[in-house]
Amino acid sequence: MRAFVRAALGALALVLAVPVTVARADESVVGGRPVKVSDHPWMVAISSRSRFGTDRSGQYCGGVLVGRATVVTAAHCLSRAVLGVEWQQVRDLRIIVGREDMRGRGGQELVPRRVWVNPTYDSYSNAGDIAVLTLGTQQPKGRALPMAKAGDAAYRAGTRANVYGWGDTTGSGTYAATLRSAQVQVYSNAACSRAYPGNADGKYLADSMLCAGTPQGGRDACQGDSGGPLVARGRLIGLVSWGTGCGKAAKPGVYTRISAMMKHVTAHGAG
Ligand code: ARG
Repeated sequence: MRAFVRAALGALALVLAVPVTVARADESVVGGRPVKVSDHPWMVAISSRSRFGTDRSGQYCGGVLVGRATVVTAAHCLSRAVLGVEWQQVRDLRIIVGREDMRGRGGQELVPRRVWVNPTYDSYSNAGDIAVLTLGTQQPKGRALPMAKAGDAAYRAGTRANVYGWGDTTGSGTYAATLRSAQVQVYSNAACSRAYPGNADGKYLADSMLCAGTPQGGRDACQGDSGGPLVARGRLIGLVSWGTGCGKAAKPGVYTRISAMMKHVTAHGAG
């Protein structure tokens, strides 16, 4: 009973975490397809059973392995608004690698050895939405996803990109058991600013964010995908951060711009 209440509160917090994000039952999300973690070994789940319940391994955010012992996720995934308590009080925070089905036990659950939450993350604007988690043991070579540096062609408007996650597939709280991916395209800063000019829907900040979607909508990240990767040309370009609804035509998903955050990853990760 208590676990259920906590899970429900956690889910609510996830929705409330980003005030501009309103999940509505009539939105179709993601429009993704199932993919295998074994083909995307850098994909990890962030979990806490005590906060989010046991049936899906406590998965509530995504993350990505960018070094043999370095995982990046969204800062808001470690916020009090999402967790209900400070992250230091969450005793069962885990990084799950290699698990295809969140209802199962495959792969490994790792305890973060160190957690760095960007102190300049601004929960109002969502600028700087990144956290770096260090693992106690190195993952096998070749599992990490390289990050795209500033100026990389992967950031160019019109580039095809894929977003990955175990999050909501409908916009009404239908979380996926197995990993899914949707193809979107990188939008120009001008298009992102038009979508989010700084009204109630939020403000797009080109220095620290990028946005991606499809002109017709229907393919996007959603609740529970936060912190997960946006990948283009085989490189990490963004982390799922925020958006208005999920998959709405004029409301692309907004991502943490990785090139703007690389210095933090280098400084706080383990390589
Ligand atoms: N804030 C959400 C989360 O915590 C992610 C929202 C992404 N929304 C979107 N339309 N792309 O999971």
